[in-house]
Amino acid sequence: MFTNRLRKNLREVGRWARREHIDCYRLYDADMPEYAFALDVYRAEQTWVVAQEYEAPASIPKARAAARRETVLASVAALLELPAERVVFKTRRRHRGHGQYLRLACEDVLHEVREDGCRLLVNFSDRVDTGLFLDHRPLRRMVHDLASGRRFLNLFAYTGAASVHAAAGGALATTSVDLSATYLDWARRNLALNGFVDEAHALIQADCLAWLNEPREGEPYGLILLDVPTFSNSKRMTGTLDVQRDHAMLIRLAARLLSADGVLLFSNHLRRFRMDHRSLADAGLAVEDITRETIPRDFARNPRIHNCWRIRRRAERRARRSRRDASNA
Ligand SMILES: C[S@@+](CC[C@H](N)C(=O)[O-])C[C@H]1O[C@@H](n2cnc3c(N)ncnc32)[C@H](O)[C@@H]1O
Repeated sequence: MFTNRLRKNLREVGRWARREHIDCYRLYDADMPEYAFALDVYRAEQTWVVAQEYEAPASIPKARAAARRETVLASVAALLELPAERVVFKTRRRHRGHGQYLRLACEDVLHEVREDGCRLLVNFSDRVDTGLFLDHRPLRRMVHDLASGRRFLNLFAYTGAASVHAAAGGALATTSVDLSATYLDWARRNLALNGFVDEAHALIQADCLAWLNEPREGEPYGLILLDVPTFSNSKRMTGTLDVQRDHAMLIRLAARLLSADGVLLFSNHLRRFRMDHRSLADAGLAVEDITRETIPRDFARNPRIHNCWRIRRRAERRARRSRRDASNA
């Protein structure tokens, strides 16, 4: 039954991905509850499949869990005609915090994939995450389409994929801020791979909250991406970051850096996220829920994978900000 399901998905989602020229996509997402895996296909120089196993409850005997893994491996390898070593298994534990960013191995082998004409590096073995959140493909496309002629700010920039898209879409400059030197280096490599090596593309290692709280001179940003982790408690920051608790403050701080007609895209992966509309309205911000248009076809079974919002200044505030920007110019 599992093989049949996979065959059906390959026929439907696989065909859609080929038609749309999408090389990396989710093929299967726990469609059958007894096979609680997410299977992601990456067409790099060769095809790889990353199988994330949602941790089995303790009530499932280990032998049964292992047998399921074998079935998944055999089906994937046969249907996609892959050697077993290109099907990488990972367990996604249900916990908060930085766990999903911890290292699993240390092979440091990066593979190149393509997305909407951009070249991006992914890693299949070292971490639970590969360096590219596939559910955010439409959001990166939105960044690409909005970036022309704007300065782009990427907060919690991770591997900088959105910065590459912004630059490729014609951004005047990109600034990527992240706490992790490893991810910033990855972002630098992604930018360089696409030819964006000049000083227009800044990489800043900082706690975004502290960075946003510092007084900041200079030109405002026409486009800001604020993709906030659900929870963060890195040693390199003071206190913790909790997207439900802190989102309104983060959005208000980031919006101060927005040009009069600027667009702020805010997103997170908290399933039960509740937007603090009142606080943002009080700050003169107009907030639009764009989650539905940012859930790609391959994540349709899981529409709560992320939530996403388009934020602008309300009209009267835009006029006020325009006057301020003009007098500063
Ligand atoms: C893109 S965000 C989170 C993506 C996704 N929304 C999620 O929930 O997993 C992940 C990035 O946030 C960075 N990060 C975590 N806490 C941070 C902080 N306080 N300031 C800057 N970057 C931070 C991590 O280093 C990582 O690169």
